[in-house]
Amino acid sequence: MKILVTGGAGFIGSAVVRQAIRDGHEVVNVDALTYAACLANVSAVDTDPAYAFEQADICDAAEMKRIFATHKPDAVMHLAAESHVDRSIDGPQAFIQTNIVGTFTLLQAALAYWDGMGRPEGFRFHHISTDEVYGSLGAEGQFVETTPYDPNSPYSASKAASDHLVRSWGETYGLPYVLTNCSNNYGPYHFPEKLIPVVILNALAGKPVPVYGKGDNVRDWLYVEDHADALLTVLQNGANARTYNIGGENEAQNIEIVRMICALLDELRPTNTPYEEQISFVTDRPGHDLRYAIDPERIRTELGWRPSVTLEQGLRKTVQWYLDNEDWWRALQDRDGVGTRLGKS
Ligand SMILES: NC(=O)c1ccc[n+]([C@@H]2O[C@H](COP(=O)([O-])OP(=O)(O)OC[C@H]3O[C@@H](n4cnc5c(N)ncnc54)[C@H](O)[C@@H]3O)[C@@H](O)[C@H]2O)c1
Repeated sequence: MKILVTGGAGFIGSAVVRQAIRDGHEVVNVDALTYAACLANVSAVDTDPAYAFEQADICDAAEMKRIFATHKPDAVMHLAAESHVDRSIDGPQAFIQTNIVGTFTLLQAALAYWDGMGRPEGFRFHHISTDEVYGSLGAEGQFVETTPYDPNSPYSASKAASDHLVRSWGETYGLPYVLTNCSNNYGPYHFPEKLIPVVILNALAGKPVPVYGKGDNVRDWLYVEDHADALLTVLQNGANARTYNIGGENEAQNIEIVRMICALLDELRPTNTPYEEQISFVTDRPGHDLRYAIDPERIRTELGWRPSVTLEQGLRKTVQWYLDNEDWWRALQDRDGVGTRLGKS
């Protein structure tokens, strides 16, 4: 299958690109190369004849039209987005532009292309979204695919809007689509502004390891390569016009994650003092959702997908990866906003 992947130079998109090529698919990676992108993420596959790269903004209708006409994909996996909640608090405009206007522009280009090709039945527009569209849970319960949308941050609101656009292009114009809502990812190539890499890198640098509020916010963590595997499963076997929630059934409080990482570093890169002593509680993020948890029953029973690693195994692989790939993360630490506290106001 030839897959047009948007955002393939980002964290999750690059895991999708790497796995899709490994699985024998052709990939056209469409990425604007924003601050969050890194082409080194796909260096393992970028000389493969099955891989092509187009630097383009998904908000550029003429470019999207050209790219569909040139490459004639069998499917789209749409991951390009502004993805950092803290940045969405300080500067929501880019989130509205890329996540909403960009998704609209891509949908229009995909629809015109699909129409022009005679509406092939096997075509799929796969929209990759987040569990954050469902809002915050209390101490009990899990998100299911019918949970009402209740987003709280500019990021999650813009993703919710894009989900609605995709669904409506299916209902109104018949565009074949699948939609996935996934919990928090972690793993190799995670941009060094997100919680898990920040903890690893600050700990290694001997700096304070920041924990928002009391660290009691709960997330349901999924190893990024398991997410990529789930996405390719849904693309190929998911039912048309259906949503699948994807989660690792690995709930943990942020403070527990931080302590697990510190313990792994004590083992893998020991120093004289335990890394936990660097933990520093800082002002919470405004509108910080308390808890997310995914019920993955649908993807498990209908498509037979399960994560391959536990949280403990995935975190160990991740910490080891950051220890082994210093060149990768050092090169990103000079980028705008990295290493500074964002999203306080
Ligand atoms: N990170 C998570 O935990 C998580 C969880 C669930 C869902 N998601 C969703 O998965 C997708 C990928 O997330 P990520 O963490 O890999 O993000 P990321 O920020 O690491 O990567 C986003 C990529 O999109 C590209 N991009 C941004 N704006 C663009 C534009 N206008 N045109 C073309 N390319 C553009 C960037 O250059 C970057 O390569 C997003 O849609 C996100 O909402 C993320």
